[in-house]
Amino acid sequence: MSGPDSRRIAEGPLADVDDWESVHVPAKTTFRDYREDVRPGVREFYRLNHERQTLAFVRAKRAQYLPKSQRLMGIWEAMEFLNTLVDDSDPDTELSQIEHLMQTAEAIRADGHPRWFVLTGLIHDLGKVLCLFGEPQWAVVGDTFPVGCRYSDKVVFREFFAANPDFAVPEYQTPCGIYAEGCGLDRVHLSWGHDEYLYHVVRDYLPDEGLAMIRYHSFYAAHREGEYQRLMNERDREMLEWVRTFNPYDLYSKGHERPDVRALTPYYQELIAEFFPERLAW
Ligand SMILES: [Fe+2]
Ligand SMILES: [Fe+2]
Repeated sequence: MSGPDSRRIAEGPLADVDDWESVHVPAKTTFRDYREDVRPGVREFYRLNHERQTLAFVRAKRAQYLPKSQRLMGIWEAMEFLNTLVDDSDPDTELSQIEHLMQTAEAIRADGHPRWFVLTGLIHDLGKVLCLFGEPQWAVVGDTFPVGCRYSDKVVFREFFAANPDFAVPEYQTPCGIYAEGCGLDRVHLSWGHDEYLYHVVRDYLPDEGLAMIRYHSFYAAHREGEYQRLMNERDREMLEWVRTFNPYDLYSKGHERPDVRALTPYYQELIAEFFPERLAW
């Protein structure tokens, strides 16, 4: 099914499409700045991401993908499709996409969380199929941040925003930019990527808490640093607590034991069927 011909590498400087997250995993021994600790390609990845994620780009991608006219596909099918995405990195040490998803879900399940939470862990990265639709890495992964307003100092590699054309637009560089204070994150355009895309694909099928985990899991400036309060409403603050609960399962489950995908498949197929129709529009 996924023979060598169907395998695709995401276009961009990252050897592994998840390497950008290394900036958020603190060094185990002594404190080191993330700029010195990153894996190869990560800096260049953020340079491209911060330079090219403009408000106009985000609007164009929303217009392209939110009608969900790419294909009809079930959740399990999307997992297998995503697994055809391979990395340049060492296959003996790095997890496949399905392994990362199952490992995240298994860690959530082991802590006794509800079924919708386990399922959220299982699917949270499926928006990365954008890579298979031909989108470059900088338009699929990486920290997300609001566009159309001032960039927080707490966004990683903030200095690269100087090359973003929006940086020269005064209207986009006030604290609230094009948004009204307290308007709520739902009205704010975040940089385009796998988080926002998957949110729109699954929004009818999961509770709000799970949807927030999917939509904001890469929005580190908000869920880790507490930035962008001005744009939020009370509901956002509540939901970000759930994103914080989710984040360690995503970030720290990596590198633990490989999940037994074959053995776990029936359990997860049943869980998917409990919440999702056979096919969804992507
Ligand atoms: Fe992700
Ligand atoms: Fe993830």
